[in-house]
Amino acid sequence: MQAGGSAAEAKAVKSGTSRDAADLLENASTVVFVPGYGMAVAQAQHRVREIYDQLTKRGIDVKFAIHPVAGRMPGHMNVLLAEAEVPYDALIEMDDINHDLPQTDVVVVVGANDVVNPAARHDKASPIYGMPIIDADRAKSVIAIKRSMNPGFAGIENELYSADNTLMVFGDAKGVLGEIAKALAGES
Ligand code: TAP
Repeated sequence: MQAGGSAAEAKAVKSGTSRDAADLLENASTVVFVPGYGMAVAQAQHRVREIYDQLTKRGIDVKFAIHPVAGRMPGHMNVLLAEAEVPYDALIEMDDINHDLPQTDVVVVVGANDVVNPAARHDKASPIYGMPIIDADRAKSVIAIKRSMNPGFAGIENELYSADNTLMVFGDAKGVLGEIAKALAGES
């Protein structure tokens, strides 16, 4: 069945383990994290930093895509990532990072939802139509970490999660990222 059917149609999602996510990351040359409200709720920024360290140690290029309204207050993601001492020059604003995403091997969506919802680009009936988004779906592969298929702030479905190039890893962001960090450190 093609995408674009009725909203009631169940769309298949591919889900994997933290180990699967670690394997994808280890084999990448370029990785972009897209943090959102769920990273703040989970307080997962320190685990993100651990993974940043593991990947950069291997020579992998790691950046962070910052959407102006990610989270629930202006600068929310910048504050959390600064607290975890993620280098400031790795934080790239939406308009600048979007050019790079089609050449990016793996995007890791950490508890972000509305700010990566492709409906904003093409679905005129969507309440978020016209909102600029981070084009996570244009990367070669996407790892999306969240607890369930529940929507974000806008209360709408996100087709990114059922896209062919997306692997969902379900769970609390801090827990999942902690497992990925351990796998990358060879501790699991
Ligand atoms: P959201 O669209 O709100 O999505 C956050 C996602 O985080 C949810 O889908 C949720 O899914 C997941 N999540 C929650 N707790 C989690 C946890 N412990 N571990 C892992 N995932 C968790 O976030 P966004 O993409 O950052 O977008 C922000 C939204 O807020 C926009 O619609 C924006 O307009 C709005 N807003 C922003 C501001 C400012 S100034 N930033 C102010 C007011 C409103 P699960 O429940 O499945 O885990």
